[in-house]
Amino acid sequence: MSAPLLIKNARIIDPSDGSDEIGDLLVKDGVIARRGSANGGVPDGTRVVDGTGMVVAPGFIDLHAHLREPGGEDKETIATGTAAGARGGFTTICCMPNTTPTIDSAAVVGFIARQAADAGPVRVLPFGAVSRGRAGVELTDMEELARAGVAGFTDDGNPVATGHLMQMALLYAGQLGLPVMDHCEDHSITHGLGVNEGWVASRLGLAGYPSAAEESIVARDIALLELAGGALHIAHLSTAGGIEQVRRAKERGLRVTAEATPHHLTMTEAWVLGSHGRGSPDEALSNDAYETRAKVSPPLRAETDRQALVEALADGTVDAIATDHAPHTFADKAVPFEEATVGLSVLETALGSLMGLVHGGALDLAALVHRLTAGPAGVLGERYAELATLRKGTPADVVLFDPNESWVVDAASFASKGKNTPLDGETLVGRVKLTIAGGEIAYDGLAS
Ligand code: DOR
Repeated sequence: MSAPLLIKNARIIDPSDGSDEIGDLLVKDGVIARRGSANGGVPDGTRVVDGTGMVVAPGFIDLHAHLREPGGEDKETIATGTAAGARGGFTTICCMPNTTPTIDSAAVVGFIARQAADAGPVRVLPFGAVSRGRAGVELTDMEELARAGVAGFTDDGNPVATGHLMQMALLYAGQLGLPVMDHCEDHSITHGLGVNEGWVASRLGLAGYPSAAEESIVARDIALLELAGGALHIAHLSTAGGIEQVRRAKERGLRVTAEATPHHLTMTEAWVLGSHGRGSPDEALSNDAYETRAKVSPPLRAETDRQALVEALADGTVDAIATDHAPHTFADKAVPFEEATVGLSVLETALGSLMGLVHGGALDLAALVHRLTAGPAGVLGERYAELATLRKGTPADVVLFDPNESWVVDAASFASKGKNTPLDGETLVGRVKLTIAGGEIAYDGLAS
């Protein structure tokens, strides 16, 4: 157990009770021992940190990350992925089942739990697959997976393949009190494409991934939610049309939630042109056009979609920010655009890029913190509420960040094995300084 730690004079934002005040936070014996402006004694051996100008919040919860283990250890391991998460302020990470073998049995869930316990204090909550092997044919034994401790179900990387599977998954997962997360992509339309259908695809002579590939599956899933009940969670929502459907379904009282990624909230299809997204249709192509590090599924979208997503995040239509951290090797991306794998390494840049929305006036800081903490906890359900609070006596999952520190992204120095980010070399403003998970220091960047 780490020594007691007192953070003094920080802005403490706790979305679980709406509080936002300058004060002190004491972590002792693994729990939040004291919080607020009232003075109290300082236990012997306490490390005191000056939090002036900094923000303290519950540790961030990532609903959606690819930790690659088992089977993809060249891209990431649970140890490197959780270390990357800790650097990004995440104290809970939900890992996706597109592993080898798939997370579709209690044995694999148990393996992940053991690896996570060895890796360190960051919590890892696996999502189990909806279908065996994510093959889209036969449901997994959802009850076995629930008993083994999965936080929900998804075939992420793939959509739930058929309406019937989705109907059954919603029904059974609903009885188990767990959400079904869907990667809404009609593969028969997208064929693995990695650029939005729009001006950049035209400029580069690439076939584009249309918004309808997402919107048609979102529509199907909402209709099935109405039929089967349960709880539906839309992964990495990216289109204005998809957002509108989620908004209307929520208005009708359906149990649908949605997440958005830092990259879809802050970047557009223009990033595929290279030049860090600053290129325009009439310029000559830059040397880094066909930027494979900006290839992701769903693709980075149009500026109108991005703006709709930020609005949806602000008004709560989007419940949570989730990274879709998708580490890949250098070789996976150092190939022609059409052959490159999809995904970005996100855990270590998430806060810095999202703070751009706050500094630009598009989002309130307290709302951002909510969507990284209480928002995702709400998607996971009541049993995880304690992971997103600074209430006295609860397990100390805490992040301390400097909202104004400027830093340059250096992917080579990431804890993640995935160096695949187009943000490499970009200046971000907002940096995690300290992450505490379950009372243990998971990342200490106060000296740097
Ligand atoms: O960009 C993505 N990468 N989207 C996905 O759905 C899967 C992920 C991965 O596993 O690399």
